[in-house]
Amino acid sequence: MSEIQTKPVFKPNKEFAKTARIKNMCEYQALQDEAMENYEGFWGRYAEEKLDWMEPFNEVLDESNFPFVKWFNGGKLNVASQCIDRHLESRKNKAAIIFEGDRGDKQIITYLELYYQVNKFANLLKEDFGVKKGDRVVIYMPMIPEAAFAMLACARLGAIHSIVFGGFSAEALRDRIEDAEAKVVITADGAFRKTKPYMLKPVVDAALEGCEVVEKVLVVERNNEDVEWVAGRDYSYNELIKDKSAVCEAEPMDAEDPLFLLYTSGSTGKPKGVQHNSAGYILWAQMTMEWVFDVKENDTYWCTADIGWITGHTYIVYGPLAMGATTVMFEGVITYPDAGRPWKMVEEYKINQFYTAPTAIRVLHKTGEDEPKKYDISSLKVLGTVGEPIDPPAWKWYYEEVGQSKCAIVDTYWQTETGGHIVSPLPGATPIKPACATLPLPGIMGEILDPETGKKVGVNEKGYMCVTRPWPSMIRGVWGDPERFIKSYFGDVKKDDKAVYFTGDGAIYDEDGYITITGRTDDVINVSGHRMGTAEVEAAIKKHWNVAEVAVVGKPHEIKGEGIFAYVVLKSDNGVADEIEEMKIINSHIKQEIGNIAVCDDIVFAPGLPKTRSGKIMRRILRSIAKGEEITQDISTLEDPSVVEKIETMVKSK
Ligand code: PRX
Repeated sequence: MSEIQTKPVFKPNKEFAKTARIKNMCEYQALQDEAMENYEGFWGRYAEEKLDWMEPFNEVLDESNFPFVKWFNGGKLNVASQCIDRHLESRKNKAAIIFEGDRGDKQIITYLELYYQVNKFANLLKEDFGVKKGDRVVIYMPMIPEAAFAMLACARLGAIHSIVFGGFSAEALRDRIEDAEAKVVITADGAFRKTKPYMLKPVVDAALEGCEVVEKVLVVERNNEDVEWVAGRDYSYNELIKDKSAVCEAEPMDAEDPLFLLYTSGSTGKPKGVQHNSAGYILWAQMTMEWVFDVKENDTYWCTADIGWITGHTYIVYGPLAMGATTVMFEGVITYPDAGRPWKMVEEYKINQFYTAPTAIRVLHKTGEDEPKKYDISSLKVLGTVGEPIDPPAWKWYYEEVGQSKCAIVDTYWQTETGGHIVSPLPGATPIKPACATLPLPGIMGEILDPETGKKVGVNEKGYMCVTRPWPSMIRGVWGDPERFIKSYFGDVKKDDKAVYFTGDGAIYDEDGYITITGRTDDVINVSGHRMGTAEVEAAIKKHWNVAEVAVVGKPHEIKGEGIFAYVVLKSDNGVADEIEEMKIINSHIKQEIGNIAVCDDIVFAPGLPKTRSGKIMRRILRSIAKGEEITQDISTLEDPSVVEKIETMVKSK
């Protein structure tokens, strides 16, 4: 560790750099300069080079209705064709998807096979369910190849998919179905976890009770457990797919036609339907795959995310397939049967790029420190992390034990809204530092700004992570709520009197101009790399009849990065004697309203909450108490200052 602490800069592997797409910092700078000098020329050049257009675009960027911008006006393409059809000439027998199921079952799906599967799926949706361009389709699926087929089938038809992570509850699923007004839900009976079956279809059934919008449900039979079938609504994919034609024309889509929605937490109780459109999204998905992971023609790439999150969208399905790579899809639990599972897979599939979240790295480190040594993982070239800050001990282990001190670690910073990476090292060029996202990628005008002055902050000064010009894969809207789109992302920071995109994250420059993300500045916490709005958790807890008031904050957690800490004021205080029971009830409300991912790690049954005289809850105080920090704020102006000491004592005695 001493080397990391005293000289925390690791230069790219020279051998790797020789053939990397961006080979050194001069090349990086040249690209960034090109983008600065001729922004539209830069992006226009790549859009022509990287994408296959059915009709060419006649304008690169239209900012006249900022922040509702348009990229590549006039152009037509189809994202599924970008991911499949154009590879058929040179890669038809190449593995597109390598699937490993929970029980070790394997499938290798070539580009030609993917083409057939997606076409059949699209024909099924079109012919049997009447799905057409612009319709919304909710996908609530486990990590099986059919989930990728479903996404691509929607893209082929021009239908807008909205994937809901399989860990969300029926309530959360219903909210998302209703907000998007989806007419079809694609699901599975269930899947396997640690070789045991678990179920998804019953969750869909519960979500659809009293829900008017959904006409049809398509069920992939994966674990063959018994499920209810609603006549006229539910259909078996395995049956319907049998007689479908393997040819389906790809719908020509305008560059700005929506590709998908993905709901994410914000600072209110209602999740936002983040909208991504066709051309700009797929362009950046492909470019970042090439630049950041530097995947070569013969490489095998594995991202461990779930397709229910943006990482699964961009870096399991769209990005790798757009560039014609081989992407590994994994159904199982990464630490099952033991913490050697991923390294066994690396050895077996000769994986070259491995991309995961710091939470997974921490778990693998903690439960299987020596496991990487037991396998031949010498094929690895690039290691990625995403979703949350990675702490130096986990970084060191990842670098030395998994990367054998020869692999670049790309600490990729981005969000659902950015569509793809925005700040990240380039593995052949950027000298890396532990737990540092380093520099904006070429073409991304990322800056840390002072929210008051709109000026770039100085070294070691905290500011807001912003992007000062629209980029192709930028969020295009919040579904059905243009006001919320403007307010959420363009309302906080102005540079030269012009609103700029604000990520919601704080950040800091070091003396080399490197960017370190310091975390959210709003009431959003990051649990195991998943974004969770505290307001959403609070709304779920408030549904419990005995809860009078609640405030939820984040608290550092050894494995999850951040844990969920709730202060609950009960209506009738019989709960004190029965705290554990009450905690169970509250958590079961959360499971019902949101899902297991939002369950509280700690609940304190407080006598009251620290509030200003105007009734505003002082969350900063609650955050400090949860972290065990000293209270530095002035509490004399609170409605009842004594409550702070009482809560502090309760938390300390826990
Ligand atoms: O706070 C940042 C954190 O994750 C948030 C985005 O969450 P989500 O939209 O769910 O997407 C996660 C996968 C891209 C960001 O606002 N975050 C993401 N990457 C990093 C990060 N924090 C620190 N370092 C990162 N590399």
